[in-house]
Amino acid sequence: MKNTNVPRHIAIIMDGNGRWAQARGLSRVQGHQEGVKRVEEVIRAAKKYSVKYLTLYAFSRENWQRPKEEVSFLMGLLSLYLDQKLREMKENNVIFNAIGNLSDLPEMIQEKIAQGMENTRANTGVHVTFAFSYSSRYEITEACRRIAEGVRAGKIKLEEISEETIAGHLYTANLPDPDLLIRTSGEFRISNFLLWQISYAELYISEKFWPEFTESEFLKALEDYQKRERRFGRTSPVL
Ligand code: FPP
Repeated sequence: MKNTNVPRHIAIIMDGNGRWAQARGLSRVQGHQEGVKRVEEVIRAAKKYSVKYLTLYAFSRENWQRPKEEVSFLMGLLSLYLDQKLREMKENNVIFNAIGNLSDLPEMIQEKIAQGMENTRANTGVHVTFAFSYSSRYEITEACRRIAEGVRAGKIKLEEISEETIAGHLYTANLPDPDLLIRTSGEFRISNFLLWQISYAELYISEKFWPEFTESEFLKALEDYQKRERRFGRTSPVL
């Protein structure tokens, strides 16, 4: 792979754990367990290929509607993951971050997340952001509400509200916009993920289910991105 034109920020919709498991006669939760291994693998790959920001859609606000057993398994898996991996992230210079309506999560998990963010804040390597109980529409709605409150309190002038004002009130205020959005399992959907932030992102759909999305699949996505010509709405340089 070329070292030039590496996406600075990759966002990933990790889809297909359930179908991967079902196709093998396993339970859906075994698919999630296998999915966690790929999370580790893509974090390592991001470091290896000099991707600075990685944002992973781990649990949507809509996912609370899944069967109670699956939700509680996912929460258990998350809790275990945080226990096992936060220390490693600190040692491996990873900056751990979380976005979403975090107050929906069990309190114990909220505490682990807050601690993880605090403990890795001084690191300087890959920024890994997990989206938990995340909904992009909700994020934008909340941003509008807080901006309106700012106007009411006289802290924000109505005529000075700009795109930067909106972006600055999103959970991602401190992150650059994603350059590349990957979705696995062959689905061509955004599913309420980073709607504002991906305005100019390149899209890459992998046919692999998330548990099959190994480093070599990640590399394929990077190489595909490197062939793209990004124009941000401008005309092509050859015209
Ligand atoms: C989508 O597969 C995946 C999820 C809803 C959860 C993603 C979770 C992980 C990769 C593991 C948990 C992560 C951490 C950090 C502990 P799906 O269940 O929608 O699959 P399907 O579309 O085939 O049913």
